[in-house]
Amino acid sequence: MWYTLRINLLLFIVLLSWVCSSVTASVSYDGRAIIINGRRRILFSGSIHYPRSTPEMWPDLIQKAKDGGLDVIQTYVFWNGHEPSPGNYYFEGRYDLVRFIKLVHEAGLFVHLRIGPYICAEWNFGGFPVWLKYVPGIAFRTDNKPFKVAMRGFTEKIVNMMKSEKLFESQGGPIIMSQIENEFGPVEWEIGAPGKAYTKWAAKMAVGLNTGVPWIMCKQEDAPDPIIDTCNGFYCEGFTPNKNYKPKMWTEAWTGWYTEFGGSVPYRPVEDLAYSVARFLQNNGSFVNYYMYHGGTNFGRTGGGFIATSYDYDAPIDEYGLLREPKWGHLRDLHKAIKQCEPALVSSYATLTWLGKNLEAHVFKSESGPCAAFLSNYDPESSAKVTFENVQYDLPPWSVSILPDCKNVVFNTARIKANGSPMKMTPVSDGALSWESYNEETVSADDGDTLAMDGLWEQVNVTRDASDYLWYLTNVNIEADEGFLKNGQDPVLTVMSAGHALLVFINGQLSGTVYGGLDHPKLTYSGSVKLGAGINKISLLSVAVGLPNVGVHFETWNAGVLGPVTMKGLNEGTRDLTSQKWAYKVGLKGEALSLHTVSGSSSVEWVEGSLLAQKQPLTWYKTTFNAPEGNDPLALDMNSMGKGLVWINGENIGRHWPGYTAHGSCSSCSYAGIYNEKKCRSNCGEASQRWYHVPQSWLNPTGNLLVVFEEWGGDPTGISLVRRTQTN
Ligand SMILES: *[C@@H]1O[C@H](CO)[C@@H](O)[C@H](O)[C@H]1NC(C)=O
Ligand SMILES: *[C@@H]1O[C@H](CO)[C@@H](O)[C@H](O)[C@H]1NC(C)=O
Repeated sequence: MWYTLRINLLLFIVLLSWVCSSVTASVSYDGRAIIINGRRRILFSGSIHYPRSTPEMWPDLIQKAKDGGLDVIQTYVFWNGHEPSPGNYYFEGRYDLVRFIKLVHEAGLFVHLRIGPYICAEWNFGGFPVWLKYVPGIAFRTDNKPFKVAMRGFTEKIVNMMKSEKLFESQGGPIIMSQIENEFGPVEWEIGAPGKAYTKWAAKMAVGLNTGVPWIMCKQEDAPDPIIDTCNGFYCEGFTPNKNYKPKMWTEAWTGWYTEFGGSVPYRPVEDLAYSVARFLQNNGSFVNYYMYHGGTNFGRTGGGFIATSYDYDAPIDEYGLLREPKWGHLRDLHKAIKQCEPALVSSYATLTWLGKNLEAHVFKSESGPCAAFLSNYDPESSAKVTFENVQYDLPPWSVSILPDCKNVVFNTARIKANGSPMKMTPVSDGALSWESYNEETVSADDGDTLAMDGLWEQVNVTRDASDYLWYLTNVNIEADEGFLKNGQDPVLTVMSAGHALLVFINGQLSGTVYGGLDHPKLTYSGSVKLGAGINKISLLSVAVGLPNVGVHFETWNAGVLGPVTMKGLNEGTRDLTSQKWAYKVGLKGEALSLHTVSGSSSVEWVEGSLLAQKQPLTWYKTTFNAPEGNDPLALDMNSMGKGLVWINGENIGRHWPGYTAHGSCSSCSYAGIYNEKKCRSNCGEASQRWYHVPQSWLNPTGNLLVVFEEWGGDPTGISLVRRTQTN
């Protein structure tokens, strides 16, 4: 007894010295898996995007990911957040990338850093800074010199920053992999030769940065060596990398889907998610990243075109940082089961045996090593009894059972053991808010501080995305002998806009509101308008709702009123206003005055009580409130409002748009059968997004300033602060 202990101790010391001498860390790969410090690994990873939560939330999110059985945190790098103007960098607050990575390291997890710098991500402009569009001669994501110079510049900036902080695994840090570009394969397919040349260039550029860890390219079948091509999707079991010496990796296992304003809210049953992951692993897969593991919030104006402020994604950790059960717990149980199989998985490939129609066994067994098996039933309706190694097993429909010793089932993807009650929103009891209002004035072409130009200009060209709002202003002269002045048949104004929303004011009065959607950003306003003899002021407030984040050369897509703009029903017939003189004003007066801040808000006269504006367009509202007791996550219930922006203590919590009702059908959905993002939906006929996350760390104990800008007109007395808590 004593003797064996001594032997073990000796062995331990020998092992320890071996571990210490191999501290010159390394990451490589072979056809089976990623190899970290000489060991093949089956890795679970989860996407958590640092700017979609607050630094105060990061340690808890990372710990919950670790407790959920993850080995890796994956994030994109958000170029437009880091370089707001050329050469002017920002890495503070929610954009403190180094702090985020160090927190992951402290928790003992690895990092997969997706530099892009194109990231899509339902993020404004796909992560590109808007100024990049105005670099002379530029075309995004193709064999274009100015673009390549800018892309190399930012990629180098990030890689050098990681190197100087010693964050690559090859330096003892947590980053085991990076990504260059993002889902470029489909674009390359469309644009052909310059796309192929660009792929080769991007690969060479990235590899040349010598990070000491592998690079991947997702959805890129022709990823040049040594870059690993990887799969994104709801299912990836059928994917194979382009070389047999590259491991089979799933960079985005979609846990749900994003919500768009005007869309219903997607969700994905965890039984199907677990099934897709088990099928991937039983087919020789070795790396799974959940996209998203925590989706979070598109704070401020960071959401891509028509993307909702909530980026919850039906992820295992919800928008507010709380566990979504049973999703989180069921995946944790899956990860535990797979970790038990890891010794068998990393030392062998799958051998397939047919057990019947839609029934399979995948067995991992090396000559002398351990054995692990997956028993699968692909039938979406019927359960099955199968015999494997002389033992009978029951398989529910559309499920996989996991047997880490080839005998005992420790997990079935359709049998949920995890529990936990759903979350609910409860109004904070002392929450009655007392509001004041201020009317944003309508601007007209004759106002002093406008910009006069001939014709109609593209919106982003004028605003450079400094604001969602751009006024298009012109005058229409009506002669006293116009027929409509006598017969009362009002002329019809028609305005064609490239998007995304529009408010039409005639002589300062709202005449109509129109808006597009994710699949139809363009819009047309057409309505009869009240005009009088003399000069009539036409003020069009064009509103952008995030810039596009995906599509071939999305940088060339327009927004704003590009015309034609016509006035029909005059003596002359139809008057074309398109190329006459227009004046422009970027942004709102309230934005220029910083009404969302304490100092700015005191620069105008607010009214309250019986004078409080109700259901009036273009209205600013403000109130103050004390932070509620406790640490429950908080949100604002905005259901009584239409569309606009919300700030707390000067921080923009995002665009609100509860006035946009979710279209589509929300019939009940079974976990079994092929999932797609249209299959399981909620909120039909209600607001796409009613609640807006208020991070705890943005609050002071007392006197918090809440400012709302409302475009359409709403009832601020219906706004309430709510807590997110468990139902019992
Ligand atoms: C797993 O890999 C082995 C070895 O390459 C191969 O024979 C087998 O067909 C693969 N299984 C699946 C399901 O891809
Ligand atoms: C964009 O602005 C430039 C001047 O800054 C102008 O020459 C150009 O015509 C504008 N383009 C559009 C589409 O409005």
